[in-house]
Amino acid sequence: MIETGTDIEFAAKCIANGDLVAFPTETVYGLGANAFNPFAVARVFEVKERPTFDPLIVHISELKQITDLYDNTISDLVYSLAQAFWPGPLTIVHPKSERVPDLVTAGLNTVAVRMPSHPIALELIRLAGTPIAAPSANRFGQLSPTRPEHVQKQLTDIAYLLENDSEMFGIESTVVSIQGGKCILLRPGAISLSDIQKVVPCSVTDKKNAQDKLHAPGLLKSHYSPNKPLHILRDGVQNLPTGSGLILHESLKEITNAKRHISTSESLNMVEIAANLFSSLHIMEDDAAINQIYIASVEEIGLGVAIMDRIRKASYRYN
Ligand code: TXA
Ligand code: MG
Repeated sequence: MIETGTDIEFAAKCIANGDLVAFPTETVYGLGANAFNPFAVARVFEVKERPTFDPLIVHISELKQITDLYDNTISDLVYSLAQAFWPGPLTIVHPKSERVPDLVTAGLNTVAVRMPSHPIALELIRLAGTPIAAPSANRFGQLSPTRPEHVQKQLTDIAYLLENDSEMFGIESTVVSIQGGKCILLRPGAISLSDIQKVVPCSVTDKKNAQDKLHAPGLLKSHYSPNKPLHILRDGVQNLPTGSGLILHESLKEITNAKRHISTSESLNMVEIAANLFSSLHIMEDDAAINQIYIASVEEIGLGVAIMDRIRKASYRYN
């Protein structure tokens, strides 16, 4: 059984310490982690047993927090929507700041943010002193929870469950993308498109439009791919082609001719691997001395299923 209660201060301390807390929002229960702590975020995927890393929504309590999350040219459309619908069930996807860990956004260069209107959620974020990344607090493929007992039924191994008696919408937030001066609906939800269109022009995703890729980022065969060839390591590490980057998930035990090597974890710890996966790919991508990248596999159990799913998608074009 998860420890359950109404102690928001305790819940906030858990978040600040890198632990997970289930908390009520006006839509459904969220499973929250400090958005700036990649290890805490990795545990969200582990606890939910998501088979792939889907990008998460980052929850804020004050408008000024968007300057830590979005890049420094925040569109006026964001401010118009925030003024009309925040706090409330509207999520705004916008190009992200470098500070947001890659695992929060599943390697995308955009981040989803919303300010919930539920007083417990707002107080939790305020006391935690950090934005909170949270998907719905259900296990993968199961129903979104609107009662504390739904969370109890589905999740174990989290620090605290903040209880709430009030009714919830039961439908998740509406998700829109603001990019290139355009508003596009990515997920219908608690706020209708026509209400949004009263504030800014906004269209439904066009199937032929490249933006459609954003609609279900987790479902594409090729998703986040580095801009240089990425191969899954099949043979040893001794005879890699010239200029190879090598990504392992434990400390290097053999001699390698790799130009550069990164270990996402010293000892095959899945939470560490998940937290460091995208950033290790970014480092190799940004290193001009690296021509191609070799990455080791992990065993496909627990979080390892999601890790291998992302590795296969990232290397799909090259294997
Ligand atoms: O009402 C809600 O939105 C609830 C409460 C807890 O806030 N949260 C929720 O989270 O429904 P989740 O993880 O179940 O759904 C998040 C949605 C997914 O469809 C995901 O693909 C999309 O938001 N999303 C997140 N970041 C994105 C991004 N950078 N680009 C496109 N879509 C994104
Ligand atoms: Mg969900």
